[in-house]
Amino acid sequence: MVGARPNFMKAAPVMRALAESGQAQQLLVHSGQHYDFNMSDVFFQELGIPAPDFNLQAGSGSHAQQTAEIMKLFEPVVLEQRPDLVLVYGDVNSTLAAALVCAKLLVPIGHVEAGLRSFDRTMPEEVNRILTDQVSDFLFTPSRDGDQNLAHEGVAPEKVHLVGNVMIDTLIRMLPKSQEHAMRDLPERFAVVTLHRPSNVDDLAWLGAMIQTLEEVSHNLQVLFPIHPRTRQRLVEAGLGNGRDNGLRLLKPLSYLEFLALESRATVVITDSGGIQEETTYLRVPCLTVRENTERPATVEAGTNVLVGRSLDRIRSEIARILAGNTKQGQVPPLWDGCAARRIAEIITTRC
Ligand code: UD1
Repeated sequence: MVGARPNFMKAAPVMRALAESGQAQQLLVHSGQHYDFNMSDVFFQELGIPAPDFNLQAGSGSHAQQTAEIMKLFEPVVLEQRPDLVLVYGDVNSTLAAALVCAKLLVPIGHVEAGLRSFDRTMPEEVNRILTDQVSDFLFTPSRDGDQNLAHEGVAPEKVHLVGNVMIDTLIRMLPKSQEHAMRDLPERFAVVTLHRPSNVDDLAWLGAMIQTLEEVSHNLQVLFPIHPRTRQRLVEAGLGNGRDNGLRLLKPLSYLEFLALESRATVVITDSGGIQEETTYLRVPCLTVRENTERPATVEAGTNVLVGRSLDRIRSEIARILAGNTKQGQVPPLWDGCAARRIAEIITTRC
């Protein structure tokens, strides 16, 4: 089951590995949480994900509405198809909705990217992570901290499988191809920005202050900002919806290959995304995360990620440091090696 943009690059390698095993019949359900062409279809095309067998078209809404709608639409599919296992990915509302449906129908659940914790329950994703893990039967973790978090929460160790990072499987497979999709007029040095978390974009005063800082930064370093639909709406509400003519370029949401081409060549990435913290660590590209915490501590401890919190001064000073050539040297965490999905497929096909 998939639903939102960050699910697609995680499901693609797992579906491929299960198909290659020849031992599993698969059905793909798309909740429809993300539905725009450039938030969904383009990822299916580029990543070679088969068309969904079921598209629930649940769409947007409040958290309760969206989660409930997905549950109502997903339950009959599970009742009719009677799967031996349902795989859910990451921490979006579709993940928890599908997991709750299966838990009540006593259908086994595999959670890919289990165990991550920001310890910040104001994030909707943290609630989704904790609850999905509690009802899952197979918990596939990307890094050791995930295993430790699950142990602290009393999850039985035999349910937990440290397999590595499936998002990095996709990155490794697609990186060579992505280079054909680089924007033509890229300067030698540039920054890439993505912001979409409610904590950053729903506070219009803070969003405005960040845009102003990015405009300042863009006098020295071109800033490319592909804009998530939620952020686009907020910028329009704040009267900031038009791209400025200087170095700050506001772009539509990019495809997987277009974004990877940018990210892999960037001088610095400024983000509040989860997956981008991991991708920049793998690519050894400096990353400034505009959050107070992260559920992906390996990217800070081993990788190139720096948490700048809600500090515009910190963003300015970190960028100055990076432009002076003083960048954090990162390591790639263990098992982020392109083989995580194969490990998952092996576990599933031997135990289910
Ligand atoms: C969701 C996930 C978030 C993930 C992000 C990646 C949850 C709680 N949040 O946030 O963890 O990092 O996806 O993108 O599940 N919209 C469109 N077109 C679309 C989808 C959404 O215009 O295809 C607009 C709608 O106005 C919608 C808003 O974006 O109300 C937010 O979408 P939603 O799915 O609720 O959450 P995201 O912010 O995308």
